Amino acid sequence: MPENNSTQKTGSIVCVGLGMVLGSHIAPLSRQFIEQADVVFMSVTDPLTEAWVEKMNPNCHSLQRFYADGKDRRKSYAEMVDAIMAQVELGKKVVAAFYGHPGVFAWAPHKLIQLAKEKGYHGHMEPGISAEDCLYSDMGIDPGRNGAVHVEASQFMLYERKVDNTAYLILWQLGFVGDLSMSKYQTDSAYRLLLQQLLIEYFPAKHKVAIYESPTLPTETARIDWFFLDELSKVHVEHYSTLIIPPCEVKKIDLFMQHKMNQLSRNQ
Ligand SMILES: C[S@@+](CC[C@H](N)C(=O)[O-])C[C@H]1O[C@@H](n2cnc3c(N)ncnc32)[C@H](O)[C@@H]1O
Repeated sequence: MPENNSTQKTGSIVCVGLGMVLGSHIAPLSRQFIEQADVVFMSVTDPLTEAWVEKMNPNCHSLQRFYADGKDRRKSYAEMVDAIMAQVELGKKVVAAFYGHPGVFAWAPHKLIQLAKEKGYHGHMEPGISAEDCLYSDMGIDPGRNGAVHVEASQFMLYERKVDNTAYLILWQLGFVGDLSMSKYQTDSAYRLLLQQLLIEYFPAKHKVAIYESPTLPTETARIDWFFLDELSKVHVEHYSTLIIPPCEVKKIDLFMQHKMNQLSRNQ
């Protein structure tokens, strides 16, 4: 994917998405980038997916070795970026393959592309099918109907927010919600109780919410477990669980804006 830039150096980085379901979600273009790369780094969590990526390109390296229990994930991500950029700077065609979409709730792929460009190398991202895409299909949600706000669950707790309860609120990384050290892969029910109490300031305690887990193998089906918001601290969650909170109020027309919009339409 050369750019028309005479000062561009020869190394490159393409971050591709593998999709959620093994083998069936990858775009043909992403597959082609993997097959033609000099070196591939992969961030996937199960050995079957690793084996599948290795079949596309045998010069494949797992990024899992950068993670460790109790290690700050920000350190792991920085080390991954360094290891990948070292190959780019050797002039290689490098591909980094991430499950889902490489740019969705993922720091390293964006950082890699930014750094590559700053240093004069080619860098770009190929989209993939994310957990967000799967949940719209599996749960029959159209974000265009009422809107959908996606927030990382710990960030939702930590920062002051204006919550729009006429839209879907979708909280990611529920499994380790509330961990400010960024070194845990699971947090206990006390953290979820705090989140539950915060959410009850905006939604009724008996509002129905769901845990969503998309399948990752073609033989699996999605987990969609509905329960009341005041049961959040008691439900079973995984590090790959996402919390879906449907709207609890009907959206109201802003009569002032409606008037202004009508005025504009009449005048044209
Ligand atoms: C670091 S983010 C990576 C998301 C990924 N890049 C994507 O495109 O879906 C991890 C979070 O994504 C969500 N996630 C990952 N796998 C999932 C799955 N199988 N089902 C539902 N949500 C999932 C969870 O909220 C999880 O905590």
